[in-house]
Amino acid sequence: MNPVPIDQAQIITFPKNTEPRGNLSFIEGNNHIPFAIKRIYYLYDVPSGATRGGHAHKTLNEVIIALSGSFDVMLDDGAKIKRVFLNRPHYGLHIPPGLWRELENFSSNSVALALASNIYDEDDYIRNYDVFKKMVANGEL
Ligand code: TYD
Repeated sequence: MNPVPIDQAQIITFPKNTEPRGNLSFIEGNNHIPFAIKRIYYLYDVPSGATRGGHAHKTLNEVIIALSGSFDVMLDDGAKIKRVFLNRPHYGLHIPPGLWRELENFSSNSVALALASNIYDEDDYIRNYDVFKKMVANGEL
């Protein structure tokens, strides 16, 4: 049986080169993450108490990394909710399509890096939670 969507959202551990000079991590598309990277974006200067995300994607795969600081990623597949705390830059959270996500509890000076499987496409977004729930119920996601 296939895992339910929320269990397909997994933490990925990236290589980490540790030296007295500091740490270095790297990410290769189609190697350390399960898709080719077509876009990178990042969230920064997020005010205390703000929430980002608040949508699902129809087809987009993403990996979210706390490059600096920390934040929570709340995931919802319409049936189950999972909260993932990210606070180290050698871990990424793979979010497959079809999951509602909200990013919250940003620490000061945090930076959230997102690696995405496609360029920006507003048509790929589901921004209304009730619409998301209906699409899940209808098997459209
Ligand atoms: P949005 O995806 O709603 O932000 P978040 O989910 O992180 O809270 O994007 C906010 C705005 O930025 C929206 O007008 C679309 C625009 N945007 C782009 O133009 N390109 C991008 O790659 C992203 C992620 C957003």
